[in-house]
Amino acid sequence: MHSGNADRPQGVLLRGGTVIDGTGAPRFTADVRIEGARIVAIGAGLVEEGAWVIDATGKIVAPGFIDVHTHDDYLAQSAPRMLPKISQGVTTVVTGNCGISLAPLVHANVPPPLNLLGGPDKYIYPTMAAYAAAVDAARPAVNVAALVGHSTLRVAAMGDPYRAATAAEQARMGELLREGMAAGATGLSSGVFYPPGAAADIDELALLAGIAGEMGGVYTTHIRQEADQVLDSLDEAFITARRGRVPLVISHHKCAGPQNWGRSVQTIAHIDAARRDQAIGLDCYPYIASSTVLRGEMVDGIIDILITFSVPHPEMAARTLADIAREWQCTQREACERLQPGGACYFQMREDDVQRVLQYPATMIGSDGLPHDQHPHPRLWGTFPRVLGHYSRDVGLFSLETAVHKMSGLSARQFRLADRGEIRAGAFADIVVFDAATVMDTATFEKPNAQAIGVECVLVNGAVAYRHGNVAPSRHGRFLRRPGT
Ligand code: ZN
Ligand code: CU
Repeated sequence: MHSGNADRPQGVLLRGGTVIDGTGAPRFTADVRIEGARIVAIGAGLVEEGAWVIDATGKIVAPGFIDVHTHDDYLAQSAPRMLPKISQGVTTVVTGNCGISLAPLVHANVPPPLNLLGGPDKYIYPTMAAYAAAVDAARPAVNVAALVGHSTLRVAAMGDPYRAATAAEQARMGELLREGMAAGATGLSSGVFYPPGAAADIDELALLAGIAGEMGGVYTTHIRQEADQVLDSLDEAFITARRGRVPLVISHHKCAGPQNWGRSVQTIAHIDAARRDQAIGLDCYPYIASSTVLRGEMVDGIIDILITFSVPHPEMAARTLADIAREWQCTQREACERLQPGGACYFQMREDDVQRVLQYPATMIGSDGLPHDQHPHPRLWGTFPRVLGHYSRDVGLFSLETAVHKMSGLSARQFRLADRGEIRAGAFADIVVFDAATVMDTATFEKPNAQAIGVECVLVNGAVAYRHGNVAPSRHGRFLRRPGT
């Protein structure tokens, strides 16, 4: 690879690739010319003058992928090369999902699940503006769009966040959210599945969703329950978003637990019916296991549970809970208690449900990767190549054009990321070049920290950010402020 200014010449010309433009339209062969941060021309035989020419013959040229569901809030600063993401062709991450965002909150020892963002002591940003400035100063390899987390707002505004909020506390949450939105946040997220978010009623959620909506944002939610009460929980999300007049995104949609396997037929029909009256999108990761903090009530003795980290027992990461319980000669529930605080992968979904959700036209791809786990779920490193290589190419679940759309054009539209997610003149040059024949995830539950193959080159804001398996020395990601802020 070149050195010197080769990662940022006057322009870049991607020569002779097969363009999949992110809109879902059929592929075509063309050169793509980039000047500065933007795409300036797409067509045959574009002039090379002043450009660094990259041969893309035989390769797919697509919009850089948008990981709409991440917990990379702190990673963008602690490891700004963002290797797990850039190596998949991801050029933008949406942080702050599931109700937990690093800002706005100053706290020395946050409770779970807020500790998923790199530990209990990483909360040092009193405002979203301060967080945005820190991201810009760190210059991560990929762009960052941030949601404001509802659980973070609760911890910031309430002495005891595990109870109903008073009117004054809700007003304070509203103020903090307004500051975040004014500083450019993309919207509000909630995670009412977990305490402390779970202590909120629908009035509190609708009040805050309304502020996000009024200021031009979106509302994403990890719904109250994804198991037996999944339909009621979806209804709560629909009503919240309707009352708040805000576009809704259902996070990592799933039907959890053996007794609910197969119910995605119902849930998708339910979502489809609601979409006639309101804007609803979904995100999904391409695996049958979920992953989050250790939670006793998820230990049912039936599903397999793999430990991803344990503060008191770090040596137990990468082992199953059943195995640990056997060694300790106790029940799985007891073993779970002794491992706290910790995290796990829960094999709680079935393949047909995962495929049905992935295939649904309003579903975007989001990894939900947990970058600070000792032994993370493989979705952190594998999500996007797995959808392209496994589900599109090998399983034939949908065309490559559809796969790309679900990770770029659709995502940019649903999250209102201006001039991202498409290959067109005038759009930002966030671009991935990959080999459709070989692209594949290599991360597994046994060996999760593994770089995908087949991703040849990634450009972020017009600069080469990743090539031949290496991250470029200079990074060009930005904090993406919502249009108009
Ligand atoms: Zn979640
Ligand atoms: Cu999440």
